[in-house]
Amino acid sequence: MTRTALVTGGSRGLGRATALALAADGADVVVTYVRGAAAADEVVTMLEQGGGRAAALELDTSAPETFAAFAAALGSVLDGWGAPGLDVLVNNAGVAGSTPLGGTTAAAVDALYAVHVRGPVLLTQELAPLLVDGGHVLNVSSGLTRFVGAPAYSVYAAMKGAVEVWTRYLAKELGPRRIAVNTIAPGATSTDFAGGVIRDDERYRAMIEGASAMGRVGEPDDVGRAAAAIVSSSLSWATGQRIEASGGQSL
Ligand SMILES: NC(=O)c1ccc[n+]([C@@H]2O[C@H](COP(=O)([O-])OP(=O)(O)OC[C@H]3O[C@@H](n4cnc5c(N)ncnc54)[C@H](OP(=O)(O)O)[C@@H]3O)[C@@H](O)[C@H]2O)c1
Repeated sequence: MTRTALVTGGSRGLGRATALALAADGADVVVTYVRGAAAADEVVTMLEQGGGRAAALELDTSAPETFAAFAAALGSVLDGWGAPGLDVLVNNAGVAGSTPLGGTTAAAVDALYAVHVRGPVLLTQELAPLLVDGGHVLNVSSGLTRFVGAPAYSVYAAMKGAVEVWTRYLAKELGPRRIAVNTIAPGATSTDFAGGVIRDDERYRAMIEGASAMGRVGEPDDVGRAAAAIVSSSLSWATGQRIEASGGQSL
């Protein structure tokens, strides 16, 4: 039976790369988007050209009031594919956010909480009935929970820390269903994230390169392939774990 996967924020960046890597491993993949409908459609076309089935659905993970309707839409896609459920859920969607001491607003903190913590928690709860026993949940954290980067990322990193703690509890809750729940923690990776600074700013890249065991910043495929490996059947016995894919940043 072909595996099915959902990647939130699969229209760009790490989510897109994860969707492509999962499809390369033979999965049928649903990606979600907020503003990037056209980009998500391009991902769907690429996935279908690779021989798999694919779909794009709109989902704002900071809007939990939409999750029940989203679950119904996802269920319809899976039914249309004749799939018994969802094998892999990747909670990837996210945004950068700057919260310097002295310049942090309640709205900025709430926005980071909504997309990085509340969204994955409530979306996973909504989708849990669709997950097949023996499946995988992969939550996307950050290397910034292990090492301290720019201080303005304090709240962003704290939210990712919350994701890692929640991952361990969820692993225990879903363990009786043999669902593996893990965290992938990417290092600095070349995407649109934070205005594309990691991809476009030579000085920033040089700083990361100098602090990295592998001597370069990450490319989306580096993280996408790692994510696909973590949710493969080979790692079904690993649960409640944080796996960093950063090329050895700030070791
Ligand atoms: N890049 C890095 O260096 C890095 C490092 C560590 C962790 N991460 C984490 O990796 C994840 C992906 O980051 P990225 O680098 O791929 O960023 P990206 O290139 O900016 O892509 C962000 C993706 O998230 C979606 N998204 C944004 N806000 C959303 C919301 N409210 N609801 C649903 N989807 C939303 C976007 O959808 P639309 O385009 O359709 O709006 C897009 O698909 C994030 O959780 C980020 O915190 C990134």
